[in-house]
Amino acid sequence: MFYGRITGWGKCVPEKVVTNFDLEKIVDTSNEWIVSRTGIRERHVAGDGETTASMSVAAARAAMAKAGVIPADLDLIIVATSSPDYLLPPVSSMIQDQLGARCGAFTLVAGCTGFVYGLATAQQFIATGAYKTVLIIGAEIITKFVDWTDRNTCVLFGDGAGAVVMQASEQPSGVLAFELGSDGEGAEHLKMNLGVANPPSHKVIDEGGHFIRMNGREVFKFATRVLARSAAEVIGRAGLSIDDVDLVIPHQANERIIEVAAKQLGISMDKMFVNIAKYGNTSAASIPIALCEAMEEGRCKEGDRIVMVGFGAGLTWASAVVQLGVADEHRLAMWRWVPTATMRRAQNRVKVAARTIGLKAGAVVMPLYTRVTKRG
Ligand code: UT7
Repeated sequence: MFYGRITGWGKCVPEKVVTNFDLEKIVDTSNEWIVSRTGIRERHVAGDGETTASMSVAAARAAMAKAGVIPADLDLIIVATSSPDYLLPPVSSMIQDQLGARCGAFTLVAGCTGFVYGLATAQQFIATGAYKTVLIIGAEIITKFVDWTDRNTCVLFGDGAGAVVMQASEQPSGVLAFELGSDGEGAEHLKMNLGVANPPSHKVIDEGGHFIRMNGREVFKFATRVLARSAAEVIGRAGLSIDDVDLVIPHQANERIIEVAAKQLGISMDKMFVNIAKYGNTSAASIPIALCEAMEEGRCKEGDRIVMVGFGAGLTWASAVVQLGVADEHRLAMWRWVPTATMRRAQNRVKVAARTIGLKAGAVVMPLYTRVTKRG
């Protein structure tokens, strides 16, 4: 059995920055509304010549340089995206070609959750000994599918790419536990109505079938149901409690969702990484961009245990407990507790459920999803 150690990370965002004040000029919204309801202040938006492939390649090169690997070392490339350059060819093959790699490559679609799905998938190839070096990318130019007249969505999204290199290690490292989830019953709440079931035509385009449409309230409620619960579940599967975790890196969709999850998990916001103010929701790119920034800012370091948790279209969710670097002796001792995983899972989930009931009880007048944290 091999462990999939994360040895490199990199990110790339477009140059152009669109602030909330810029949006005030094109749609009926305000900086105050966007900041207080989402935590977003600005986002990066791709310009001419910037594509999902080009940003992925830049993020991948940064991650590979950090890991000290060259394209010939790559055994597999996994690209999580909902905004590929084309339906065909797969953007993953374009990226493989542009990197000069000679290995398998595939694109994975699981909405904003895609990167964590990719991480868990990569780890399987490494754990079995099939592959030694896997590149995982989360990349989106989602703003190409945003209706800039729809204030419900256009203020939320941004573009970017993040990448990590995962390499086989014999020492405990990398993905300790993961959970992948899907509930297609909620599919209608976040969709782009273009595809085989609704093929492109003038009528479909006139109706805006190529734009992202979202029932924000429903997705918000879903997110506050799954985020903390799934994080608690994987922390338990790793035989740990939340106190053993150094940092949680959640999908950056709404700061209020992250605040609710922190309360449900019983942790302070210091333990949550939040960078949504600068990037908005970059979908599958949000977690690898956040990981990269957390490393750059020293918010997490080699030896730390972090939890990544995503949610989004599908509706889907996924979490992973990741050991950065190699566990030290003390931490290795913790791992020997893995036989108690069943007990830990139960303990962690009960705690989250109890705190959620407490939060709901305190929000009788106002449903959970409308709780607003005011910011200047
Ligand atoms: O990554 C994929 C996952 N996506 C998400 O997780 C998004 C989850 N959802 C959310 O983050 C929130 O639901 C939103 C930020 C999308 C919306 O926040 P909300 O607190 O749920 O607002 P709301 O949809 O309940 O709308 C409240 C009011 C409405 O006006 P009325 O009906 O009360 O008069 C909206 O029309 O806010 C209005 N509104 C806006 N006002 C100014 C909606 N969007 C805007 C806007 N500017 N951009």
